Amino acid sequence: MKKLIIGNWKMNLGLKASLVLAKAVKGIKTNNEVGVCPSAFALAGVKQILSGSQVKLGAQNCFWEIAGAFTGEISAKSLKEIGCAFVILGHSEQRALGETCQRVNLKTKAVLAAGLTPVVCVGEDWAKYKSGKSRAFVQGQIKRALTGIKLNGKKLVIAYEPIWAIGSGKAMRAGEANQMQALIKAEAKKVLGQPKAEVLVLYGGSVEAKNAADFLRQDNIDGLLIGGASLKAQEFKKIANIK
Ligand code: PGA
Repeated sequence: MKKLIIGNWKMNLGLKASLVLAKAVKGIKTNNEVGVCPSAFALAGVKQILSGSQVKLGAQNCFWEIAGAFTGEISAKSLKEIGCAFVILGHSEQRALGETCQRVNLKTKAVLAAGLTPVVCVGEDWAKYKSGKSRAFVQGQIKRALTGIKLNGKKLVIAYEPIWAIGSGKAMRAGEANQMQALIKAEAKKVLGQPKAEVLVLYGGSVEAKNAADFLRQDNIDGLLIGGASLKAQEFKKIANIK
């Protein structure tokens, strides 16, 4: 089945390096859906390089208002204008800097209103995982992020990223991620009040070419959100091409 593979470049690349990587991945041809999320300053340049490519563009964050006196912020509407297809929201690295579920909720609404797909990130830290509190914690995150949201036929993507697995080289076991993701999908549909809503759930956290197929084989894993490995063009291509 077709999967969604998204590369999250984080704040790892400057403008020049972003354009170089965009050139290296633009030729990807796969049956999966693929996207990359450069830093905001590189979005327009990367979009130009990706013109005619199958690789879609995504942003790493946005603000919830459409326009106005909000120094330093970027609206979902302008991301749409640049040519983005989706926006990552509530990444744990943003949450560590103060991002809240309430703000993720406002941003999710704004992203949907702009005609973009939100990629809402959730996931527990090591202490919660070890004490068996992952499920309750992630359910709470989903509830707070999705309250009052109407998809109206639009697609929602949730990325399940256990914080302890991000950038650590210690991915969650694929079968365990699969179970969590079944729960996440069910919870999201319950909160949305739409059993038939189109909700995709991605796994993220130390995915590399060598373990990606294990995840993509799972029924409840609709794709992957990839950090470190998405910075290596060959590695990212390999993952994007997994059937
Ligand atoms: P990683 O990051 O693949 O480097 O673990 C994933 C993410 O933070 O989205």
